[in-house]
Amino acid sequence: MVDAVGEIIAKIKDRLDILEVVSEKVILKKSGSHYWGLCPFHKEKTSSFSVNPALGIYKCFGCGEGGDAISFIMKTEGKSFMEVIRDLAEKFGYELPASGGGTSAGMREFKDQMLKACAKAADYYTTYLLQDKSAETLKAMNYLSERGITKDIIQEYNIGLASSKYTALYDILRAKFSDEVLEKAGLIMTSRETGFIDRFRNRIIIPIRNEHGDFVAFGARAIMPDQTPKYLNSSDSLIYNKSKILYGLYHAKDAIKEENSVILMEGYFDVISAQAHGVKNCVASCGTSLTAEHIKLLSRYTPARRIYLSFDTDSAGQKATSRNAELIKEAFTGLGAIKQFDENYLSMSDDKYSCEIRVIAPPEGKDPDEFIRSVGADSYREYIKHAPLLLDFQIDCILKERKDIKTPLEKSELVKRVIPYLQEINNQIVQGEYVKTVAGVLDIDEKFLLREVHKKTRTQQDSTSDVSRIVTKNITPAQKAQKNLLSVFLVADNPLNFKQVNEKLPDTAFSDETLKIVKSTIDKLICTVNNVKELIEELYTSFIDNPEIHKLITEMISISETFSGLEVEDVEALIDENLATIQKAQSDEKRKQIRQSYIKANDDDVKALMIQMQLRDEIK
Ligand code: CTP
Ligand code: MN
Repeated sequence: MVDAVGEIIAKIKDRLDILEVVSEKVILKKSGSHYWGLCPFHKEKTSSFSVNPALGIYKCFGCGEGGDAISFIMKTEGKSFMEVIRDLAEKFGYELPASGGGTSAGMREFKDQMLKACAKAADYYTTYLLQDKSAETLKAMNYLSERGITKDIIQEYNIGLASSKYTALYDILRAKFSDEVLEKAGLIMTSRETGFIDRFRNRIIIPIRNEHGDFVAFGARAIMPDQTPKYLNSSDSLIYNKSKILYGLYHAKDAIKEENSVILMEGYFDVISAQAHGVKNCVASCGTSLTAEHIKLLSRYTPARRIYLSFDTDSAGQKATSRNAELIKEAFTGLGAIKQFDENYLSMSDDKYSCEIRVIAPPEGKDPDEFIRSVGADSYREYIKHAPLLLDFQIDCILKERKDIKTPLEKSELVKRVIPYLQEINNQIVQGEYVKTVAGVLDIDEKFLLREVHKKTRTQQDSTSDVSRIVTKNITPAQKAQKNLLSVFLVADNPLNFKQVNEKLPDTAFSDETLKIVKSTIDKLICTVNNVKELIEELYTSFIDNPEIHKLITEMISISETFSGLEVEDVEALIDENLATIQKAQSDEKRKQIRQSYIKANDDDVKALMIQMQLRDEIK
């Protein structure tokens, strides 16, 4: 049985969770009954974008954008209403009537085939590694066991081997999948002479799974020392977007939630080793640099946004640490200050921080995989436990270099490099303490250092917030009153029901053309909707192609929020007050007209007298 489109749309709306939808694009932080984040529709540094989960809506106080979950997806993905509905119907498993979605059903089927092909390929590579007893598989098993990769680990992570034969995988999969599916999934490629050949050959295969566990791509490591590149990775495809997928997340997500923290590593084997040794909450990007999208994905699992960076401890690793730390900070701007000190310095609750970045840096210059295998997981856990906050790590790295200083010039260079970090410290007292310590360690005059640190801090702390309330254009008091009256319909905890509100609002009160249209739509909707949330949803949907009215609705929701918590008498008084404003404006207008006609009738005494009486009546 296929439901009518309308029913499916209703079901979809029912299942959509505004928080979940928005969280895919915006990092949100709870404050009171709302969630706040950086507006995706305009550039800003402090959060003026809010989500109200009770009403299922979002709105930005900076730019005035607003709407429900569906319009959020429409705007952020540039899709039409029906396109979004089609996508969501597919996601939730609803079947739209045939006219609705021919092409997308075909697309869904194609992606499904790609996923199945990747799963089969992963399975084939592992089976080949574990069960084949050829020279190449024995060599690969040997390589892996030398790296501490046991059979259990191989099975758990579906590690495999791509044979050096040109069409080993293709020969198996071509019976079940079309060439197009296999090629688009990045499993085969065309070769000039022979048609299709396997993309991965003579490599250890590390399958990449998305957060739901689907196999979507592969990393493939060279086995021979002279084989290049060291890692060959799948390209992006219909089912794989490497800037949104983190290696190991599927295995790590429960632990990330549990520990409320995540460890970012650099390599596939770092993650595999750490997880296999019980350090489960770690992930790595897949042969690409970290992106803001990766960070956003992670913040869904760690509300404290506590991120440990565990890269190589050499100087390249240190650079990677700083680069990625900057990226993380940027992804979280506007959510508060980054955590700079531990609680013994300052007591602040966790959610005051935008994020907490710590660095795991064992002194030995090794990557986590080598460290865990040579020194041990217990020791690694100690390093996690005592991981310094980013700022301490960065200052410490610079101070350590003092041992290599030979000339006063080198020393002043070092001082110059440490100053920006000291300037980042946003608590004056703590900053003073740090300056004292650093001056002591570098053996320089504390007062001089403090003066240098204070030089630039002013310009850095530009605290002007870019939250500007929705600019209310030059509207008349009457228009404002009409807007207020319509907003009464949207008060979530209104003691009056829709019908009661409607009875108090005469159509004659509305003169603004746009508001008249909205009012008549509300008139119709309140006969069918059950509550304010539904009314808002339906309003947004009714004006889906009218951004101006969308903004107006959003503004009305803001107004309605200022009307919450009112008793019946308060609401009545509110309505009366606004009606009075409108009436006054209307009669002012009428008197103005009368006066004008009086001026015109000046030469005609009789007519003028009549108008004068009319005016007196009107004023009465
Ligand atoms: N990488 C890549 N392509 C390369 C080199 C590296 O995609 N040619 C990615 C891989 O995801 C790799 C990560 O960068 O896991 C880190 O690279 P590197 O430190 O060179 O490798 P390791 O992870 O230490 O690999 P191994 O332990 O196997 O030497
Ligand atoms: Mn390594």
